[in-house]
Amino acid sequence: MSGPTHPNRPGPPRQAVEPGPVLPRQGIIARYRDWLPVPPEAEPLTLGEGDTPLIRADRLLEELPRDRRPPAVFLKFEGANPTGSFKDRGMTMALTCARARGAQAVICASTGNTAAAAAAYAARAGMDCWLVLPAGGVAAGKVGQAVACGARILPVRGSFDDALAAVRQVVAERPELVLVNSLNPDRLEGQKTAAFEVVDQLAAIGLDERAAVFLPVGNGGNITAYHMGFRAYAAAGRLGRVPRLYGVQAEGAAPLVRGRPVDRPQTLASAIRIGRPVYGEKALAAVRDTGGRVLAVSDEEILAAQRLLARLEGVFAEPASAASVAGLLKLARGDEPGWEVPEGPVVCVLTGHGLKDVDTALRAARASGGEGGDLEALEALEARALDPEAVVQHLLATPAGGR
Ligand code: F0G
Repeated sequence: MSGPTHPNRPGPPRQAVEPGPVLPRQGIIARYRDWLPVPPEAEPLTLGEGDTPLIRADRLLEELPRDRRPPAVFLKFEGANPTGSFKDRGMTMALTCARARGAQAVICASTGNTAAAAAAYAARAGMDCWLVLPAGGVAAGKVGQAVACGARILPVRGSFDDALAAVRQVVAERPELVLVNSLNPDRLEGQKTAAFEVVDQLAAIGLDERAAVFLPVGNGGNITAYHMGFRAYAAAGRLGRVPRLYGVQAEGAAPLVRGRPVDRPQTLASAIRIGRPVYGEKALAAVRDTGGRVLAVSDEEILAAQRLLARLEGVFAEPASAASVAGLLKLARGDEPGWEVPEGPVVCVLTGHGLKDVDTALRAARASGGEGGDLEALEALEARALDPEAVVQHLLATPAGGR
């Protein structure tokens, strides 16, 4: 390991880091234009997406069995994107290219994050936006974003898979509606920039061993995009060995792990409640090509991982995102033969912000008794609110300590 000191770099010595220039978050197209198929005349339509933090997670690392720990764990926090998920990387590309080709309207099916991103970028472009969403299957935060941005919403009975089938039928007959699901190749091109960032960020802190990247998988588009990104960097000599890719699905929606489609996918991680992934084959190829694996985690494991992330690292990610961490924890437990722990640094991709789906987090906290989180106190606030003076007295009398 060599390279400059950085607060995120594992191990001593830690010295002060020279302050760097403050650069604006210029968006992934401006930053990686040479790597992206953007029409030369196109002006980027951006909200300043990308450039998300890679957060070192030492307290999470300590949760792994001592003899099965990778050298370091990092969190690639995609919740820090403008609409709160990685979808912004793909949407800046899709809408920039669509606008350059003169499009007036976009459409997609979505479990919520694609919808929120499409609505935001379409608003900025002055385009119409149609969203076909599985009724009852989208977290409130995401619907709220889409509504606020003026998108038109059509709830459909069934799952995401049914919604996508309906949208594909529509765009086959109405080509003027631009499809902005990940079937749109511009989407994956944009999303591959997250892989560039992971490589660049690890290199910047002197980590150049072969990494392993854990990702939640729904439709399989994102893991395919990471694979494209790593392969492109490797081909250009910017990366020694392509990281191992680990795709994590929810047990009730795990067609890639089971090897067959799931008709009624079920999981509380609504973002990845998908039974017929469009990029299933490509996702499996990405995993095989890089020596990773696919695995499934239960909803309980997802909620436990979400909680650990927030408690230990202060990072609040939505349930689907926590699946990546749940996958790492499961692998590290070594429950099944042949489950080797990756040899290099591990990056868990946290695809969406916890604020997208506060209801699930609150329900989980309630179900666990709200232990340590003062949830009961919060809920009783209205019933037994205290005078400010009583709050001061209470806090002055409460000892503080590490946890
Ligand atoms: N994580 C989050 C937070 C997501 O919203 C999604 C997909 C995924 C992971 C999985 O990515 O589908 O490329 O394998 N959300 C889509 C949507 C389906 O409509 O927002 P994938």
